[in-house]
Amino acid sequence: MSSASDAVTDRHYRYIAAHACPEDPRLRELKRAAAQAGIPEIWIAPEQAEFMRILLLAARARRVVEVGTLAGYSAISMALVLPLDGRVDTIELEPRHADFAEHWIQRFGLDDRIRVHRGAGAAVLSRFGAGSADAGFIDADKENYPLYLRELLRIVRPGGLIMADNAFAFGQLLDPHPADPGVTHIRAFNDLVASTPNLRGIIVPFGDGLWVAVKEPSAA
Ligand code: DHB
Ligand code: MG
Repeated sequence: MSSASDAVTDRHYRYIAAHACPEDPRLRELKRAAAQAGIPEIWIAPEQAEFMRILLLAARARRVVEVGTLAGYSAISMALVLPLDGRVDTIELEPRHADFAEHWIQRFGLDDRIRVHRGAGAAVLSRFGAGSADAGFIDADKENYPLYLRELLRIVRPGGLIMADNAFAFGQLLDPHPADPGVTHIRAFNDLVASTPNLRGIIVPFGDGLWVAVKEPSAA
């Protein structure tokens, strides 16, 4: 019997990635441009993006709320599978990142399907109505993940999807002496998701660990 720990080896992971839809060459270009522009080179893994697209398609998602736009990689990745009347509302605090993302959203011809909201996550989220989104994605400042989760639990409709990046805390989740203070925040967040009533979630080992959770249909 194989143990859970070696069920997915690095070789399996590379095999999975190689059998996912190839990364859109324009997204590769976006990453090169971000590096050149001095934008932090932080984005979800291509196979993670493909998994999120599959989930959005399966959920027939039309409205998605994202916290943390950065270069726009994940917002664009998700918007590519939304219906023509679908929309990603993505929130970014840093004006330089928002400018870069908006430029690339235009280059993808997705200006009608992605709106970049400038400001702090909590302030912008408070403006979205209850049950107004089919899905939410958290990928921003780690100390505020619990706050973003609370808001998304309100904003995402019953039966909707809530995802969050970095469940593996930059690879340091199980490190006894983590260098990054964000690890503590992620650990607390992981415990919070696991203990939130009416939310069924599981960490999927793509990229730096992706929380995939469904707000139970019976939840308000
Ligand atoms: C960092 C943040 C992220 O969201 C990520 O995916 C990787 C790294 C960071 O703050 O270092
Ligand atoms: Mg992240």
